[in-house]
Amino acid sequence: MAILVSGGTGFIGSHTCVELLNKGEEVIIFDNLSNSKREVVGKIERITGKKAKFYKADMLDKDALEKIFGENDIEAVVHFAGYKAVGESVHVPLKYFENNIVGTIYLCETMKKHNCKKMVFSSSATVYGMKNKSPLSEEMPLSVTNPYGRTKLMIEDMLRDICTADSEWGVMLLRYFNPIGAHKSGLIGEDPNGIPTNLLPNIVNAVTKKNGPLKVFGSDYPTRDGSCVRDYIHVEDLAAGHVCALKELRRRNGIEAVNLGTGNGYSVFEIIDAFEKVNGVKVPYEIVGRRDGDVAECYANPEKAKRIFKWNATRGISEMCADLWNYVLTNRK
Ligand code: UD1
Repeated sequence: MAILVSGGTGFIGSHTCVELLNKGEEVIIFDNLSNSKREVVGKIERITGKKAKFYKADMLDKDALEKIFGENDIEAVVHFAGYKAVGESVHVPLKYFENNIVGTIYLCETMKKHNCKKMVFSSSATVYGMKNKSPLSEEMPLSVTNPYGRTKLMIEDMLRDICTADSEWGVMLLRYFNPIGAHKSGLIGEDPNGIPTNLLPNIVNAVTKKNGPLKVFGSDYPTRDGSCVRDYIHVEDLAAGHVCALKELRRRNGIEAVNLGTGNGYSVFEIIDAFEKVNGVKVPYEIVGRRDGDVAECYANPEKAKRIFKWNATRGISEMCADLWNYVLTNRK
Protein backbone atom coordinates (compact mmCIF):
# COMPACT_ATOMS: atom_id res chain seq x y z
CA MET A 1 0.00 0.00 0.00
CA ALA A 2 1.10 3.54 -0.69
CA ILE A 3 1.50 6.76 1.26
CA LEU A 4 -0.05 9.77 -0.47
CA VAL A 5 1.84 13.02 0.10
CA SER A 6 -0.17 16.18 -0.64
CA GLY A 7 2.12 19.12 -1.35
CA GLY A 8 4.93 16.63 -1.83
CA THR A 9 7.10 18.89 -4.02
CA GLY A 10 7.19 21.70 -1.44
CA PHE A 11 9.95 22.38 1.08
CA ILE A 12 8.94 20.05 3.90
CA GLY A 13 6.96 17.72 1.64
CA SER A 14 9.92 16.92 -0.62
CA HIS A 15 12.22 16.11 2.32
CA THR A 16 9.52 13.88 3.79
CA CYS A 17 9.15 12.02 0.47
CA VAL A 18 12.91 11.34 0.54
CA GLU A 19 12.68 10.02 4.09
CA LEU A 20 9.67 7.82 3.28
CA LEU A 21 11.29 6.36 0.15
CA ASN A 22 14.51 5.72 2.08
CA LYS A 23 12.46 3.77 4.60
CA GLY A 24 11.08 1.57 1.81
CA GLU A 25 7.62 3.15 1.56
CA GLU A 26 5.73 3.43 -1.72
CA VAL A 27 5.15 7.15 -2.27
CA ILE A 28 2.57 8.97 -4.37
CA ILE A 29 2.90 12.72 -4.62
CA PHE A 30 0.24 15.21 -5.55
CA ASP A 31 0.85 18.90 -5.83
CA ASN A 32 -0.66 21.73 -7.87
CA LEU A 33 2.86 23.24 -8.27
CA SER A 34 1.56 26.68 -7.20
CA ASN A 35 4.65 27.18 -5.02
CA SER A 36 7.05 24.46 -6.19
CA LYS A 37 8.47 22.90 -9.33
CA ARG A 38 7.89 19.63 -11.09
CA GLU A 39 11.65 19.00 -11.34
CA VAL A 40 11.65 18.35 -7.57
CA VAL A 41 10.13 14.91 -8.28
CA GLY A 42 13.19 13.97 -10.37
CA LYS A 43 15.48 15.27 -7.63
CA ILE A 44 13.69 13.18 -4.99
CA GLU A 45 14.22 10.15 -7.25
CA ARG A 46 17.90 11.03 -7.79
CA ILE A 47 18.55 11.30 -4.07
CA THR A 48 16.79 8.05 -3.17
CA GLY A 49 17.32 5.97 -6.32
CA LYS A 50 13.58 5.14 -6.10
CA LYS A 51 10.53 6.07 -8.14
CA ALA A 52 7.69 8.26 -6.85
CA LYS A 53 4.43 8.49 -8.75
CA PHE A 54 3.43 12.11 -9.37
CA TYR A 55 0.05 13.75 -10.06
CA LYS A 56 -0.21 17.45 -10.86
CA ALA A 57 -3.50 17.96 -9.10
CA ASP A 58 -5.33 20.49 -6.97
CA MET A 59 -7.14 19.42 -3.85
CA LEU A 60 -10.08 21.65 -4.77
CA ASP A 61 -10.56 19.38 -7.80
CA LYS A 62 -12.71 16.55 -6.44
CA ASP A 63 -12.46 14.56 -9.67
CA ALA A 64 -8.68 14.63 -9.52
CA LEU A 65 -8.71 13.39 -5.93
CA GLU A 66 -11.15 10.64 -6.90
CA LYS A 67 -8.85 9.59 -9.73
CA ILE A 68 -5.79 9.40 -7.44
CA PHE A 69 -7.61 7.29 -4.86
CA GLY A 70 -9.28 5.19 -7.58
CA GLU A 71 -5.98 4.34 -9.27
CA ASN A 72 -3.97 3.55 -6.14
CA ASP A 73 -4.24 1.60 -2.93
CA ILE A 74 -3.59 4.34 -0.39
CA GLU A 75 -2.96 3.50 3.23
CA ALA A 76 -2.41 6.97 4.68
CA VAL A 77 -2.05 10.61 3.69
CA VAL A 78 0.69 13.00 4.78
CA HIS A 79 -1.05 16.31 4.21
CA PHE A 80 1.18 19.34 3.52
CA ALA A 81 -0.75 21.07 0.73
CA GLY A 82 -1.83 24.57 1.70
CA TYR A 83 -1.04 28.25 1.37
CA LYS A 84 1.32 29.48 4.06
CA ALA A 85 2.13 33.18 3.69
CA VAL A 86 0.98 34.94 6.86
CA GLY A 87 0.97 38.47 5.38
CA GLU A 88 -0.89 37.46 2.24
CA SER A 89 -3.49 35.62 4.30
CA VAL A 90 -4.40 38.89 6.05
CA HIS A 91 -5.14 40.55 2.70
CA VAL A 92 -6.89 37.67 0.94
CA PRO A 93 -8.42 35.54 3.73
CA LEU A 94 -11.00 33.86 1.50
CA LYS A 95 -8.26 32.47 -0.73
CA TYR A 96 -6.76 30.83 2.38
CA PHE A 97 -10.05 29.54 3.74
CA GLU A 98 -11.12 28.14 0.39
CA ASN A 99 -7.84 26.45 -0.44
CA ASN A 100 -6.73 25.21 2.97
CA ILE A 101 -10.09 24.41 4.58
CA VAL A 102 -12.25 23.39 1.64
CA GLY A 103 -9.32 21.51 0.10
CA THR A 104 -8.85 19.53 3.31
CA ILE A 105 -12.59 18.79 3.50
CA TYR A 106 -12.51 17.37 -0.04
CA LEU A 107 -9.40 15.37 0.76
CA CYS A 108 -10.95 13.88 3.91
CA GLU A 109 -14.21 13.09 2.09
CA THR A 110 -12.31 11.23 -0.61
CA MET A 111 -10.21 9.40 1.98
CA LYS A 112 -13.33 8.31 3.83
CA LYS A 113 -14.99 7.12 0.66
CA HIS A 114 -11.97 4.91 -0.07
CA ASN A 115 -11.70 3.73 3.53
CA CYS A 116 -8.37 5.48 4.04
CA LYS A 117 -8.56 6.92 7.56
CA LYS A 118 -5.02 7.76 8.61
CA MET A 119 -3.55 11.24 8.27
CA VAL A 120 -0.43 13.10 9.33
CA PHE A 121 -1.29 16.80 9.23
CA SER A 122 1.11 19.67 8.81
CA SER A 123 0.13 22.09 11.57
CA SER A 124 2.18 24.90 13.05
CA ALA A 125 3.37 26.36 16.34
CA THR A 126 1.39 29.40 15.24
CA VAL A 127 -1.66 27.77 16.94
CA TYR A 128 -0.12 28.59 20.36
CA GLY A 129 -0.86 32.28 19.72
CA MET A 130 0.75 35.23 21.51
CA LYS A 131 -0.10 34.58 25.16
CA ASN A 132 1.51 31.27 26.10
CA LYS A 133 4.99 31.32 27.56
CA SER A 134 7.72 29.14 26.00
CA PRO A 135 8.54 26.29 26.21
CA LEU A 136 5.24 25.55 24.50
CA SER A 137 3.46 22.28 25.33
CA GLU A 138 0.71 20.54 23.44
CA GLU A 139 -1.95 20.95 26.14
CA MET A 140 -1.67 24.77 26.30
CA PRO A 141 -4.69 26.87 25.23
CA LEU A 142 -4.73 27.64 21.51
CA SER A 143 -5.42 30.91 19.71
CA VAL A 144 -4.43 32.52 16.44
CA THR A 145 -3.85 36.03 15.14
CA ASN A 146 -4.15 35.74 11.36
CA PRO A 147 -6.15 33.84 8.71
CA TYR A 148 -3.25 31.50 7.87
CA GLY A 149 -3.03 30.43 11.51
CA ARG A 150 -6.81 30.20 11.70
CA THR A 151 -6.85 27.69 8.82
CA LYS A 152 -4.36 25.52 10.75
CA LEU A 153 -6.42 25.68 13.93
CA MET A 154 -9.72 25.11 12.11
CA ILE A 155 -8.29 22.05 10.38
CA GLU A 156 -6.99 20.73 13.71
CA ASP A 157 -10.53 21.14 15.16
CA MET A 158 -12.13 19.57 12.11
CA LEU A 159 -9.85 16.53 12.27
CA ARG A 160 -10.61 16.19 15.99
CA ASP A 161 -14.35 16.10 15.20
CA ILE A 162 -13.80 13.52 12.44
CA CYS A 163 -11.92 11.29 14.91
CA THR A 164 -14.69 11.69 17.50
CA ALA A 165 -17.35 10.73 14.95
CA ASP A 166 -15.51 7.65 13.68
CA SER A 167 -13.09 5.76 15.90
CA GLU A 168 -11.40 4.12 12.89
CA TRP A 169 -9.66 7.42 12.06
CA GLY A 170 -6.13 8.07 13.22
CA VAL A 171 -4.59 11.55 12.95
CA MET A 172 -1.30 13.13 14.03
CA LEU A 173 -1.30 16.93 14.19
CA LEU A 174 2.35 17.91 13.86
CA ARG A 175 3.04 21.41 15.15
CA TYR A 176 6.20 22.62 13.44
CA PHE A 177 8.45 25.27 14.90
CA ASN A 178 10.81 27.00 12.40
CA PRO A 179 11.99 24.60 9.68
CA ILE A 180 15.20 25.65 7.92
CA GLY A 181 18.21 24.03 6.22
CA ALA A 182 18.13 21.81 3.16
CA HIS A 183 18.98 18.29 2.07
CA LYS A 184 22.70 17.43 2.34
CA SER A 185 22.85 16.70 -1.40
CA GLY A 186 22.05 20.35 -2.19
CA LEU A 187 19.37 19.12 -4.59
CA ILE A 188 16.24 20.09 -2.65
CA GLY A 189 15.58 22.99 -0.30
CA GLU A 190 13.38 26.01 0.22
CA ASP A 191 12.55 27.87 -2.94
CA PRO A 192 9.98 30.55 -2.05
CA ASN A 193 8.18 32.40 -4.82
CA GLY A 194 8.52 36.19 -4.74
CA ILE A 195 9.98 38.17 -1.84
CA PRO A 196 10.53 35.89 1.15
CA THR A 197 9.22 36.75 4.61
CA ASN A 198 11.05 34.16 6.74
CA LEU A 199 14.41 34.88 8.34
CA LEU A 200 16.74 32.41 6.62
CA PRO A 201 15.72 33.15 3.01
CA ASN A 202 16.21 36.84 3.85
CA ILE A 203 19.67 36.15 5.29
CA VAL A 204 20.55 34.39 2.02
CA ASN A 205 19.26 37.34 0.00
CA ALA A 206 21.30 39.75 2.10
CA VAL A 207 24.49 37.70 1.57
CA THR A 208 23.88 37.37 -2.18
CA LYS A 209 22.96 41.10 -2.32
CA LYS A 210 19.54 40.41 -3.82
CA ASN A 211 17.45 42.70 -1.60
CA GLY A 212 19.84 44.94 0.33
CA PRO A 213 20.78 44.31 3.97
CA LEU A 214 18.74 42.02 6.21
CA LYS A 215 16.21 43.92 8.30
CA VAL A 216 16.37 42.74 11.90
CA PHE A 217 12.89 43.31 13.27
CA GLY A 218 13.50 44.75 16.72
CA SER A 219 16.42 44.70 19.16
CA ASP A 220 14.47 45.78 22.24
CA TYR A 221 12.74 42.50 23.13
CA PRO A 222 13.17 41.12 26.66
CA THR A 223 15.56 38.42 25.41
CA ARG A 224 19.30 37.83 26.00
CA ASP A 225 20.38 40.15 23.15
CA GLY A 226 17.14 42.03 22.42
CA SER A 227 16.24 40.15 19.22
CA CYS A 228 13.46 37.52 18.93
CA VAL A 229 14.14 33.91 19.86
CA ARG A 230 12.83 30.99 17.78
CA ASP A 231 13.17 27.20 17.69
CA TYR A 232 14.88 26.49 14.35
CA ILE A 233 14.75 22.86 13.25
CA HIS A 234 16.56 21.15 10.38
CA VAL A 235 14.07 20.14 7.69
CA GLU A 236 15.62 16.63 7.56
CA ASP A 237 14.91 16.19 11.30
CA LEU A 238 11.38 17.42 10.69
CA ALA A 239 10.94 14.95 7.81
CA ALA A 240 12.11 12.10 10.04
CA GLY A 241 9.43 13.13 12.54
CA HIS A 242 6.75 12.46 9.92
CA VAL A 243 7.97 8.92 9.36
CA CYS A 244 7.79 8.34 13.13
CA ALA A 245 4.26 9.78 13.21
CA LEU A 246 3.22 7.41 10.44
CA LYS A 247 4.71 4.45 12.26
CA GLU A 248 2.74 5.40 15.38
CA LEU A 249 -0.48 5.76 13.35
CA ARG A 250 -0.09 2.18 12.16
CA ARG A 251 -0.40 1.10 15.81
CA ARG A 252 -3.25 3.29 16.97
CA ASN A 253 -6.34 5.30 16.10
CA GLY A 254 -7.50 8.60 17.57
CA ILE A 255 -5.87 11.99 17.42
CA GLU A 256 -2.73 13.49 18.98
CA ALA A 257 -1.07 16.88 18.65
CA VAL A 258 2.73 16.68 18.77
CA ASN A 259 5.35 19.45 18.66
CA LEU A 260 8.24 19.04 16.26
CA GLY A 261 10.93 21.36 17.55
CA THR A 262 14.36 21.08 19.13
CA GLY A 263 13.49 22.75 22.44
CA ASN A 264 16.38 25.20 21.92
CA GLY A 265 15.79 28.86 21.17
CA TYR A 266 18.18 31.00 19.10
CA SER A 267 17.98 34.76 18.64
CA VAL A 268 18.15 36.53 15.27
CA PHE A 269 21.66 37.78 16.10
CA GLU A 270 22.78 34.27 17.06
CA ILE A 271 21.51 32.95 13.73
CA ILE A 272 23.34 35.69 11.83
CA ASP A 273 26.50 34.84 13.76
CA ALA A 274 26.17 31.08 13.16
CA PHE A 275 25.53 31.63 9.44
CA GLU A 276 28.59 33.88 9.08
CA LYS A 277 30.92 31.56 11.02
CA VAL A 278 30.03 28.24 9.41
CA ASN A 279 29.85 29.62 5.87
CA GLY A 280 32.64 32.21 5.99
CA VAL A 281 30.40 35.00 4.68
CA LYS A 282 29.22 38.39 5.92
CA VAL A 283 25.50 39.00 6.53
CA PRO A 284 24.90 42.74 6.07
CA TYR A 285 22.04 43.84 8.34
CA GLU A 286 20.26 46.86 9.80
CA ILE A 287 18.08 47.04 12.87
CA VAL A 288 14.55 48.27 12.20
CA GLY A 289 11.32 48.40 14.24
CA ARG A 290 9.44 45.37 15.52
CA ARG A 291 7.28 43.40 13.06
CA ASP A 292 3.57 43.22 13.90
CA GLY A 293 2.54 39.88 15.36
CA ASP A 294 6.01 38.75 16.52
CA VAL A 295 6.39 37.31 20.00
CA ALA A 296 9.70 37.70 21.89
CA GLU A 297 10.27 33.97 22.36
CA CYS A 298 8.81 30.87 20.77
CA TYR A 299 10.31 27.44 21.38
CA ALA A 300 9.01 23.96 21.92
CA ASN A 301 8.72 21.58 24.76
CA PRO A 302 9.75 18.55 22.64
CA GLU A 303 9.13 15.87 25.30
CA LYS A 304 5.93 14.43 23.83
CA ALA A 305 7.59 13.65 20.48
CA LYS A 306 10.46 12.02 22.35
CA ARG A 307 8.04 9.94 24.38
CA ILE A 308 5.57 8.73 21.79
CA PHE A 309 7.67 8.83 18.58
CA LYS A 310 11.07 8.06 20.16
CA TRP A 311 12.15 11.00 18.00
CA ASN A 312 14.33 13.97 18.63
CA ALA A 313 16.11 16.51 16.49
CA THR A 314 19.79 15.69 16.03
CA ARG A 315 21.14 18.47 13.80
CA GLY A 316 22.41 21.73 15.29
CA ILE A 317 22.19 25.30 14.11
CA SER A 318 25.58 25.32 12.31
CA GLU A 319 24.59 22.28 10.27
CA MET A 320 21.27 23.93 9.36
CA CYS A 321 23.05 27.08 8.15
CA ALA A 322 25.73 25.09 6.27
CA ASP A 323 23.19 22.88 4.48
CA LEU A 324 21.12 25.89 3.45
CA TRP A 325 24.16 27.69 2.02
CA ASN A 326 25.27 24.53 0.22
CA TYR A 327 21.80 24.39 -1.39
CA VAL A 328 22.06 28.03 -2.47
CA LEU A 329 25.54 27.54 -3.98
CA THR A 330 24.53 24.29 -5.71
CA ASN A 331 21.51 25.92 -7.35
CA ARG A 332 22.98 29.31 -8.17
CA LYS A 333 21.84 30.40 -11.64
C1 UD1 B 1 6.49 32.82 10.69
C2 UD1 B 1 5.04 33.07 10.87
C3 UD1 B 1 4.38 31.82 11.40
C4 UD1 B 1 4.59 30.69 10.41
C5 UD1 B 1 6.08 30.51 10.15
C6 UD1 B 1 6.24 29.54 8.98
C7 UD1 B 1 4.76 35.47 11.33
C8 UD1 B 1 4.48 36.50 12.37
N1 UD1 B 1 4.84 34.20 11.77
O1 UD1 B 1 7.07 32.47 11.95
O2 UD1 B 1 3.01 32.03 11.58
O3 UD1 B 1 4.07 29.50 10.93
O4 UD1 B 1 6.68 31.75 9.77
O5 UD1 B 1 7.55 29.39 8.61
O6 UD1 B 1 4.89 35.77 10.16
N2 UD1 B 1 13.06 38.20 11.13
C9 UD1 B 1 13.87 39.30 10.92
N3 UD1 B 1 14.03 39.74 9.63
C10 UD1 B 1 13.43 39.13 8.56
C11 UD1 B 1 12.60 38.00 8.79
C12 UD1 B 1 12.44 37.57 10.10
O7 UD1 B 1 14.42 39.88 11.86
O8 UD1 B 1 13.61 39.59 7.42
C13 UD1 B 1 12.90 37.70 12.51
C14 UD1 B 1 11.46 37.72 12.97
O9 UD1 B 1 11.17 38.91 13.63
C15 UD1 B 1 11.45 36.53 13.92
C16 UD1 B 1 12.50 35.56 13.36
O10 UD1 B 1 13.30 36.34 12.51
O11 UD1 B 1 11.86 36.90 15.19
C17 UD1 B 1 11.89 34.42 12.59
O12 UD1 B 1 10.99 34.94 11.64
P1 UD1 B 1 10.27 34.02 10.54
O13 UD1 B 1 11.27 33.22 9.83
O14 UD1 B 1 9.38 34.91 9.73
O15 UD1 B 1 9.41 33.00 11.42
P2 UD1 B 1 8.28 33.26 12.53
O16 UD1 B 1 7.92 34.67 12.65
O17 UD1 B 1 8.73 32.58 13.77
